[in-house]
Amino acid sequence: MLEKINLKRFVLTFALLALSATILLAHSGTKDPLVIKRMELMTSMAENTKVLGQMMKKKIAFDSELATRALREIAKLSKATPAAFKVAASDPKSEAKSIIWDEFDYFTDLAVQLGDSATSTTIKSYEELRPALMKVAAGCKACHSKYRE
Ligand code: HEC
Repeated sequence: MLEKINLKRFVLTFALLALSATILLAHSGTKDPLVIKRMELMTSMAENTKVLGQMMKKKIAFDSELATRALREIAKLSKATPAAFKVAASDPKSEAKSIIWDEFDYFTDLAVQLGDSATSTTIKSYEELRPALMKVAAGCKACHSKYRE
């Protein structure tokens, strides 16, 4: 039960963080096109995750097709993540830890895992939103907790 409450709080915090990161992006001031590109990819991840979060909180109406499309988009972006980080571009504004490039195989695995799980999930009912969002959020967190400042 306690775990359930913690997970719920985590998802809500996560949705808010995703939103503020999107706003921050506009002010990040990075000039390196490679860094901009990977930040934009991550911002799209957050935007698609936000669709699921807002649907779960009933801020937008439940729409199975829209939810599943957001999942597919997350899958596509995840699978594009290793390529976006292939070059070890650094930037004062970047939050990417340099160990990404020492452990690039594992970094890639985490991206592929999220890609696969988002590909194999379909949201047919409102009840399926929460577990899907949990799974996605866990995938983001698995990578961020290790590889993002
Ligand atoms: C395989 C690793 C990995 C996965 C999976 C991943 N991220 Fe990221 N994310 C990163 C790294 C690394 C950065 C820091 C990039 C930088 O600042 O150069 C980042 C940065 C971000 C940012 C900040 C972007 C900016 O403009 O500074 C957001 C927002 C974000 N991720 C959202 C998500 C969401 C939402 C998911 C899951 C749906 C996700 N990420 C999954 C590695 C990952």
